[in-house]
Amino acid sequence: MRTWIRSLRPFDSIAVQTLVERTIDIREAERFIRLFHEENPGAGAPHTRLREVARDISRYGTYAHTPEELEFGARVAWRNSNRCIGRLYWRSLRVRDRRQVTSAEGVAIECVTHLREATAGGRIRPTITVLAPDLPARPGPRVLNEQLIRYAGYRQGDGRVVGDPRYVDFTDMVRASGWSGGQGGRFDVLPLMIQAGRGHPLLCNLPGDAVLEVPIVHPHYPWFEELGLRWHAVPAISDLCLEIGGLCYPCAPFNGWYMGAEIGARNLADVDRYDQLPVVARHLGLDTSTERSLWRDHALVELNVAVLHSFERAGVTMTDHHTESERFLTHLAREEKAGRVCPADWSWIVPPISGGVTPVFHRYYDNPRLSPAFVRHR
Ligand code: ARG
Repeated sequence: MRTWIRSLRPFDSIAVQTLVERTIDIREAERFIRLFHEENPGAGAPHTRLREVARDISRYGTYAHTPEELEFGARVAWRNSNRCIGRLYWRSLRVRDRRQVTSAEGVAIECVTHLREATAGGRIRPTITVLAPDLPARPGPRVLNEQLIRYAGYRQGDGRVVGDPRYVDFTDMVRASGWSGGQGGRFDVLPLMIQAGRGHPLLCNLPGDAVLEVPIVHPHYPWFEELGLRWHAVPAISDLCLEIGGLCYPCAPFNGWYMGAEIGARNLADVDRYDQLPVVARHLGLDTSTERSLWRDHALVELNVAVLHSFERAGVTMTDHHTESERFLTHLAREEKAGRVCPADWSWIVPPISGGVTPVFHRYYDNPRLSPAFVRHR
């Protein structure tokens, strides 16, 4: 991406200002248009479109994707996500084209609608909502939350945290901005914080019907329910920028469905998250005085059994790490057959529980950086 400084008209009555303009790298645009036409033979030869895009970039410093290019670009960004084990169904991503939405209020409404449509009463649909792109001299809106649904973390006087420790800073920030919604509980859904333009960000509480949650129970241990654990049904990442052909969509929340281990072996288990293994182990009556009893491992398995069972019981889509590992290998085989490399980061692909008993553990992967992609904001 090229940037340059341009001064405003010198006779401008306001103080002399400078603008930083971001224009599109035409080579990235070209590369994407060629890819689109290569993989979508129905769209015909790329020449006309390439000329049009080159003209728009030289005139306006940017160009606009057709709805078909946007849909394809978003799907390929998923296909290129080297940390995601769940890419087998990349073609089925639903793309909500909301590029005309630029205001914070508009973004809030779209995020809520996204959650309702993606949740679909539990039959979760992989969905992305694409809001206004960055334009030269005018950045698009942004959601500051890491995910649309996350739980607050409240730091106590004694240093301990009630809720999700990962979001202590974010919770402090929204409270400082005037959020009063939290009950101080372990699973208080955080408000959305949306930045559009230069003003103060907008805070917006998610309506209850947009947030499906699952209480965690165990198929054999009635006491499990009393731990009071729950998790939200939809993981919707909202702080990554969707980059297609040199264009950046900074606000493009997307979701799939959960793999149980993300909740059972990370969110509820990590020592710096909900840290539930000692609690579960105590209830199971395990010997926690020595590591060699493998109490952590035992508790981890029961917690993961509970998560999978609970989502199933609630009728909410969820996959397990064994099934998903098999599917990922199917995906790799399909990609290879299509003549493509599938980038994969071993340390993210291998599940955080029972890694070695899943087939994804026992091999290496190519890992080139491909575009379109979901990228971290600069
Ligand atoms: N691991 C993250 C979480 O626990 C979600 C990442 C995306 N996961 C997904 N299944 N699409 O919330």
